[in-house]
Amino acid sequence: MSNKMWGGRFASGPDAIMEEINASIGFDYRLALQDIAGSQAHVAMLAQTGILAQEDAAAIAKGLDEIRAEIEDGTFTFSRALEDIHMNIEARLTALIGAAAGRLHTARSRNDQVALDFRLWIRDTIDALDRQLRELQVALADKALAHAGSVMPGFTHMQSAQPVTFGHHLLAYVEMFSRDRSRLRDARVRLNESPLGAAALAGTSFPIDRAATAKALGFDRPTANSLDSVSDRDFVLETLSAAAICAIHLSRFAEEIVLWATPQFGFAALSDKFTTGSSIMPQKRNPDAAELVRGKAGRIIGALNGLLIVMKGLPLTYSKDMQEDKEGAFDALHSLSLCLAAMTGMVRDLEPDLKRMKAAAGAGYATATDLADWLVRRLKLPFREAHHITGRLVALAATKKIGLEKLTLPEMQAVEPKISDEVYAVLGVEKSIRSRTSYGGTAPSNVRAQAKRWLARLNKE
Ligand code: ARG
Repeated sequence: MSNKMWGGRFASGPDAIMEEINASIGFDYRLALQDIAGSQAHVAMLAQTGILAQEDAAAIAKGLDEIRAEIEDGTFTFSRALEDIHMNIEARLTALIGAAAGRLHTARSRNDQVALDFRLWIRDTIDALDRQLRELQVALADKALAHAGSVMPGFTHMQSAQPVTFGHHLLAYVEMFSRDRSRLRDARVRLNESPLGAAALAGTSFPIDRAATAKALGFDRPTANSLDSVSDRDFVLETLSAAAICAIHLSRFAEEIVLWATPQFGFAALSDKFTTGSSIMPQKRNPDAAELVRGKAGRIIGALNGLLIVMKGLPLTYSKDMQEDKEGAFDALHSLSLCLAAMTGMVRDLEPDLKRMKAAAGAGYATATDLADWLVRRLKLPFREAHHITGRLVALAATKKIGLEKLTLPEMQAVEPKISDEVYAVLGVEKSIRSRTSYGGTAPSNVRAQAKRWLARLNKE
């Protein structure tokens, strides 16, 4: 049988494999509610402008309401032979209200229709991700406030560098997730123009009111160029870029949780809720949730790469290649949502081992910088000279296999005669973190204030 939508030009229907490669209903059924919202706005505008008779418009609107109810209660049957969500809904509308259904597609094409539906879907998804990111920030800031003064080692090159606080470390991620939210918001601002009415590619000869449909659908304005409207998918690319960057932040944090949860580090334990055991090794507590967050970053980045490559050689305007814009985006943004939910749960349940963290913070001569700073402040030495003297003291302590604070005063004075016993006061980790009061530094007073500032701000959102 030839196709109902374009059968006039065709003698036969598609090959079976054509139907399979062409159909998108298997994934674009997710756009059903957006498709109906778009059609409702379109039909209302067609009636308003007198392009469609009131009774036809009313019948269409009523039919669309019924279809929405069927979709919401799960009774709608999707058919692969009808190719995509747009034709599935139109066919059902025809079954419900008869020939008037055929008037809905006046002054519209599936090209502007799909561009519209996908924008609406991405916009909803950005809003949902923003709410999830906020939740995660609250969980992090809560924990940061509780641990504003809990000492842990700070690392560079994965080597103990200087003591920091656990709260400070968590707030670093609050900052990153804040930028992720702002990137998503930026993408939302740029995507918020309505392509509806661009029609196939050139606009339409009907006296449509694009500003009205744009307004009805919550857009700031209609898009200004019909060719651009049906051609570009930069709104998907931009959202996926923001998602990929966010996934990288999540993945780095997940990697830290994996490390912290090892018996070797022993900095923090994940709760049973986010851990699995081994079917053979009874002692195991595997940080699967964190590993999955790390792993899913790969597919999110993959979706971005995939769509960049789909788009890179396409001449204007629509080509069917662009139907490949959806599955990766659906999968990636769903994965990101799962990762955010899992990470929020992990953070809430994360139990730091304060004793182990503090012991590790003192190991590895992590207060050597404090000693060098003391030499600069008290003995007025240039920093480079202080650095050299401290290096010799660290080397001496290392040969003796003791901490810096265990060197005797005569041993220190053999390296630098002007050192006095006041120096011992700066060699402890507590003293070290309390001294880091520069703006953005790790001093507990700073961290407490920052955590409170974040919580106040997040609670207002
Ligand atoms: N299913 C199609 C897509 O997702 C809808 C647009 C079809 N347009 C066309 N000219 N064949 O891209």
